[in-house]
Amino acid sequence: MIERFFHAESSTHTYLIVRGNECVIIDPVLDDVDQYSDLIKEQNLKLAYAIDTHIHADHITALGELRERHGCITIMGEQSQAACVSQPINCGDVIDFADLKINALFTPGHTDDSYCYYLEMDNMKYLFTGDTLLINGCGRTDFQNGSSADLHSSLFTTLRKLDSDTIVLPAHDYNGKLQSTIGHEFENNPRLNFSSREEFIEFMDNLNLPDPKLMDVAVTANKNCGIS
Ligand SMILES: [Fe+2]
Repeated sequence: MIERFFHAESSTHTYLIVRGNECVIIDPVLDDVDQYSDLIKEQNLKLAYAIDTHIHADHITALGELRERHGCITIMGEQSQAACVSQPINCGDVIDFADLKINALFTPGHTDDSYCYYLEMDNMKYLFTGDTLLINGCGRTDFQNGSSADLHSSLFTTLRKLDSDTIVLPAHDYNGKLQSTIGHEFENNPRLNFSSREEFIEFMDNLNLPDPKLMDVAVTANKNCGIS
């Protein structure tokens, strides 16, 4: 079972994967940590892992607080260089959880430390995409060592290989959408339908978006698992 939480201020989706009496949380937000903890306690669950798909710039992570409260293992990519992470992840690593396996796919581009996490459960395939692939969009590439060329490779080499019925669960949605599939995105997402790699890079390099409001505070705090 996958529970979803939504942090309205940053439009962040947080996912709690529950299997038996164990759970894993992906992209938790510090503001909402009581909600997660209450649910974990109410259902008598053991929080095994708290994972960030990358160092977020728009909210403060709950990784450190969840580790304090629940003694879970905290995970980010090795590239995050976050000292408080108890298990740095590399491409191809597998996280064993209950009777399941979560596969870490290194997908740089939005940031240089972005990972997607792939899970098969109950005959369904899920991809937690962070900001690498959003529904009808993709993460920006203009800060935190982002790279439009790397993002194109991550999308068209790493994610394109996944089965089309893989369910896409992004870290953000700004338009009320909840889930999609790899097949639907590669058919319909305009960012995945440029006529060339060069055109994608040109478009992404010229978005000219304002910086996220919390960027200076969040990136620094999140390198320390949300403890400023
Ligand atoms: Fe991000």
